[in-house]
Amino acid sequence: MVERFALLAGAATEYAIFTLDVQGFITSWNPGAQRLKGYTEDEIIGQHFSRFYPPEAVEAGRPEQLLALAVADGSVEDEGWRVRKDGTRFWADVVITALRGPDGDLRGFGKVTKDLTHRKRHEDSLRAVLEREREVADRLRAMDRTKDEILSVVAHDLRGPLAVLDGLLETLDDGWADLSSEQKRDAIRRMASSTARLRSLVNDVMDVTRIDTGDLRYDIAAFDADALAASVVDDVAGTDSTRVRLERSPTGSTMARGDERRAWQVLVNLLSNALKFSPLDSPVELRVVDTDTREVRFEVEDRGPGVAAEDQQRIFEKFSRARAATAGGEGTGLGLYIARSLASGQGGRIQVESELGQGSTFMFVLPKASDDVRPTESGELEGEPKRAGQRTLHAVQDPERRSSPRPDARGQRRRSVASVGARRREKP
Ligand SMILES: Nc1ncnc2c1ncn2[C@@H]1O[C@H](COP(=O)(O)OP(=O)(O)O)[C@@H](O)[C@H]1O
Ligand SMILES: [Mg+2]
Repeated sequence: MVERFALLAGAATEYAIFTLDVQGFITSWNPGAQRLKGYTEDEIIGQHFSRFYPPEAVEAGRPEQLLALAVADGSVEDEGWRVRKDGTRFWADVVITALRGPDGDLRGFGKVTKDLTHRKRHEDSLRAVLEREREVADRLRAMDRTKDEILSVVAHDLRGPLAVLDGLLETLDDGWADLSSEQKRDAIRRMASSTARLRSLVNDVMDVTRIDTGDLRYDIAAFDADALAASVVDDVAGTDSTRVRLERSPTGSTMARGDERRAWQVLVNLLSNALKFSPLDSPVELRVVDTDTREVRFEVEDRGPGVAAEDQQRIFEKFSRARAATAGGEGTGLGLYIARSLASGQGGRIQVESELGQGSTFMFVLPKASDDVRPTESGELEGEPKRAGQRTLHAVQDPERRSSPRPDARGQRRRSVASVGARRREKP
């Protein structure tokens, strides 16, 4: 039996075929075994077969276990890592058969090993691909949920302003001749406010989609926090300007580091909320605080209804808006979600401090740009010495640029300051 096994083995080169004595010492070796494992017949005969196993398998007693199983069941099959003479590993399919004499006494073992490394690699990469596909599918499902949510909210929120527009258009059309110019102007004003609501709804939904798909880019640079606050007050307060008080930082031009356009958007959101949710005759304050912790803090304080402690997290979630009782105008419930994402996206954060009935203070914090860094006329930074090879980015000067990055100018205008952010990141 043992002899016949050896004869058969000599012809096979695809498989490592060899025999062991009852203790597991190698007694024969075929060309396939030499090719696969790297040992010549002379080197390996008389060695123990456990040397083909990785140390951790030897420690776990795997070689002996397999022999015991072969004795018990006649043969045993195993898949696992094996070690070549040069120390490299291969993934092997191994069958160990107990070889017995005519009277059933154990004479040794026959061992057939096939290299399945290719199949193993193939399976592993297939598994990785499947895993990735599962992740993508999960993400798509999450996006699908957002989309459904957005669709239903949008469908609902579009109806209001559209109905108003329809009604007013009809009124104007039917009664053009009979309406006074004052009535016509009033209708047009109301139509404009409906269009504004539609526009902000579309903008919010676009922003949320970009945030959720990670498509939002931030232009990080130094900008004047006080100037930004002043422009936000100009842009938001409008006819409410007597309600809003602006308190600049002590220097009157504290430099923050962030994306000015997005920072503008955050502050517009906070200030509009403060005006919208508090009584028409109550004051609202926007403060620029130069903290001593190398941060700039914008504070928007109102004397409105306040936000209950248990709601202070919830209001930053998507589509969370005022309960009917405290409703102050019809928002999308996306404003604070967008504001918080935009704040953290540019390296800042938003917090709220509020007590029911006492008003609220929303705080938007950004890192401060270097104290002595100021943009000059030419857009150069002074104060910080330039190091060799250091990059300084310049935006195009736009003499007609208004003081505020208005929403209709999104993405088109940049303040002409050097990118402090890009330089900072080069430091280790
Ligand atoms: N200044 C504030 N005072 C009281 N409640 C506020 C204030 N700002 C926000 N909230 C609450 O947080 C909710 C979410 O705000 P936001 O995301 O901006 O949505 P929206 O303005 O569309 O309602 C508001 O509906 C309101 O209930
Ligand atoms: Mg809002």
